[in-house]
Amino acid sequence: MNMIYQHSAMLLFAILQLFSLPAIAQDAATDFLSADFHRGRRELVRKMMPENSVAVFFANAERNRANDVDYIYHQNPDFYYLTGYKEPNAVLLIFSEDQNDGSNSVYDEVLYVQERDPRAEQWNGKRLGVEGAKSTLGFKTVFNGSEFAKASTEFKNFDSVLFFDFENDYRDSKDTADLFDLIRNFKEKTDYPADYDPAKQRLYTMIKSTDVENSANVAQTLGRYLSNDDKLKEDALLSGFVNATDDNLRSEIKAKVDLELSANNLNSSKLSEIMSTLRETKTEAEMALLKKAVEISAVGQVEVMKAMHPKMSETEIQGVHEFVYKKYGAEYEGYPSIVGGGNNGCILHYIENSKPEVGDDLVLMDLGAEYHGYTADVTRTIPANGKFTKEQKQIYDIVYNAQEAGIKASVVGAPFQAPGQAASQVVTEGLLQLGIIEKDDESRTYFPHGTSHYLGLDVHDKGTYQAFKPNTVITVEPGIYIPEGSDCDKKWWGIAVRIEDDILITDDGPVNLSAMAPRTTKEIEKVMSQSSALEDFELPVLN
Ligand code: GLY
Ligand code: MN
Ligand code: MN
Repeated sequence: MNMIYQHSAMLLFAILQLFSLPAIAQDAATDFLSADFHRGRRELVRKMMPENSVAVFFANAERNRANDVDYIYHQNPDFYYLTGYKEPNAVLLIFSEDQNDGSNSVYDEVLYVQERDPRAEQWNGKRLGVEGAKSTLGFKTVFNGSEFAKASTEFKNFDSVLFFDFENDYRDSKDTADLFDLIRNFKEKTDYPADYDPAKQRLYTMIKSTDVENSANVAQTLGRYLSNDDKLKEDALLSGFVNATDDNLRSEIKAKVDLELSANNLNSSKLSEIMSTLRETKTEAEMALLKKAVEISAVGQVEVMKAMHPKMSETEIQGVHEFVYKKYGAEYEGYPSIVGGGNNGCILHYIENSKPEVGDDLVLMDLGAEYHGYTADVTRTIPANGKFTKEQKQIYDIVYNAQEAGIKASVVGAPFQAPGQAASQVVTEGLLQLGIIEKDDESRTYFPHGTSHYLGLDVHDKGTYQAFKPNTVITVEPGIYIPEGSDCDKKWWGIAVRIEDDILITDDGPVNLSAMAPRTTKEIEKVMSQSSALEDFELPVLN
């Protein structure tokens, strides 16, 4: 090749690259969590693992919807957090120390992934495969799932094998390396007992880690677990420990429990502790995604406020929210959308959304966009005709004041229950004042749920539920629900109000991430009086 030809070939190549680059960049969103983020999370897990242990994480199961149609696949959030891998039929091993399999390769983690398969990929989309998992996710040691059965990992040589117990609700497909086979192989390799009971193991572990002075308290806690579970009650050691009358007897039982636990090295409780601790606190990269999900959802609420009218159906209202989510590139909803007009709002997780016209009632809308894995959870309750009635406003204002008190109590160091206690007090006082209840304890009838949960990759996210730490996100979501036929004046019947915001806890106090969606009755009425782009969106009438 002469120099000029070579030069022009290079020029042509460079030009082609120039044109192809934006095409590649536009192919997929680029603001996902990075391989470094996931690697860093695995490092933290490793640091929290006991000596000589292996942690085993399985991908989520695929779920069948009907016949040959499956539900859209969703990765197990822990698995996603640690790998970034979004496909099914995968298993991740993290070792507390370096492993050397004798072939000079030292590794401290292994990822088993779905094998590439051109035919399956033609139908259902690209798979990363071994090479993709290395180049995209940054793993060094990756194999096809079919290798797991033959893997040299000797699970019995570890002091503990940490894993989340199985839900036993996954199918065996024709694929010989699907989740079913991976779990079957794991059970064979670990001598997993047929009668393994994770709840029993967790309580045994509690007994093992208690000292004599504290054993009476632990027995009391265990008693509460046993009272809700007949199977646990039948266990002689657990019942014996709970009913023991002195420390000596408890010590004897503890020795027997220790012996039982040492019969195998399986531990299905430790990973829960590790993942809850890690996932409770969000990194900056996670916060960027979570904030985006929350802001998208808040904008959805604003657009619906503008578009709402009494002739709208619950389904259409849901559709407007979800259309906004898609406009912003949110892949999913974090949970099934809840849109309940009037009495339907009294069903806490009403997802039928089937009322053809919301009429002049309040409409309770609890929805959250899921953006790159992170989900929002925002609720607004608005009058379909744009104006709160006197009774609707009276109930609304109690819930609003309860939420204000709850948000104010969401500060670093406060117990997790603080917002709930603050909100409940306001609701109880308000209901007493309006004569809807006569005694404090009747308040639960109309406010029957908790006020807060963590938010993140799961809508009810993992966390320790201990005192608030900075960089955690919780919801504050009081509500009052007065179903038809309630034991109070008829004028309150069918009023259901929930207000839910997503609150970032910081050293400088709580920050309302969903504040973009109006919350006061005055602000809501103002936004509802504005015109909506959807007013001109008319479709042909279908018979
Ligand atoms: N959307 C479910 C919840 O508020 O917890
Ligand atoms: Mn919630
Ligand atoms: Mn909610």
